[in-house]
Amino acid sequence: MQRSHLDNLVDRAERIGVIGSPSSTSEIALDIMASAADKKLVGELALFRYSQDGLAHYALGQITEVRLRNVWHEDPTMRSLIRHRGPIDTVSGRQDTHLGEMTISAVFSAQGSSYRPSILGTVPATGTPIHLVDDSILYELLSPYRDQLFYLGRVYGSKPLLPLWFKHFDTGPQGAGEAYHLGIFGKTGSGKSVLAKMILLAYARHPKMALLVIDPQGEFAKEARGEVAPGAFRLPMRQVLEGLRKPVIVYGVRDLVLDRWICLNRFS
Ligand SMILES: Nc1ncnc2c1ncn2[C@@H]1O[C@H](COP(=O)(O)OP(=O)(O)OP(=O)(O)O)[C@@H](O)[C@H]1O
Ligand SMILES: [Mg+2]
Repeated sequence: MQRSHLDNLVDRAERIGVIGSPSSTSEIALDIMASAADKKLVGELALFRYSQDGLAHYALGQITEVRLRNVWHEDPTMRSLIRHRGPIDTVSGRQDTHLGEMTISAVFSAQGSSYRPSILGTVPATGTPIHLVDDSILYELLSPYRDQLFYLGRVYGSKPLLPLWFKHFDTGPQGAGEAYHLGIFGKTGSGKSVLAKMILLAYARHPKMALLVIDPQGEFAKEARGEVAPGAFRLPMRQVLEGLRKPVIVYGVRDLVLDRWICLNRFS
């Protein structure tokens, strides 16, 4: 395999472990290195490089679980000894192994200087190094899609910015080819409105896409007018919408009251 810029970035990224056994194409077992055993790994984005059909492939995923195993501590004689004496110097802590689970979320294959979506069609050899992903790796891996990406924030509980796609519903460039339904659910004050506003701005980037907001609290209308909406998180909604040349029209409830039988176009 020819070494690419991405390979150099992966080499520089922190190695946390290697592929262990048993592993499958949906869940990869991870033998965690001693140097990474005291790190917060659950929730982190990780990556490994492997070869599939003669092409360099890069599999991205999230570490979903970390387990500790010490076979000596599971031995009945040792257990009884520990019960009476407490930890055993040569065994406790020293013979611990940390095993992780990694769920694969995206796979890319290197084709020339570009990267194309692929699938994990095989399980790479045990011992294949697994690295933590950082922004420089994501930036390079997603370089063909750079103008389509939108960032709502960082990976939950981690540092890299989470790249997302908000495609318009039409076919063609940057199009999904069909309409998508999204739901945001959470308890009061968990950030639903702020997230909805950010997603609205993501869709507002598409010139042909119109957005209708039913806004019973008036919070979207306020922010779109540049007024200060409740809450500590400031989103420059008006500036962004102006920058995108997206005109905003706000209709109050009174404008929508159907107060006569004859239909009048009150908005023209
Ligand atoms: N990503 C964020 N970073 C920092 N603060 C945030 C973030 N998202 C929301 N907040 C803040 O958290 C508070 C609650 O946010 P928001 O109003 O979006 O919650 P909500 O789930 O819509 O609440 P409600 O159920 O009352 O409508 C606000 O003060 C908001 O500014
Ligand atoms: Mg809200």
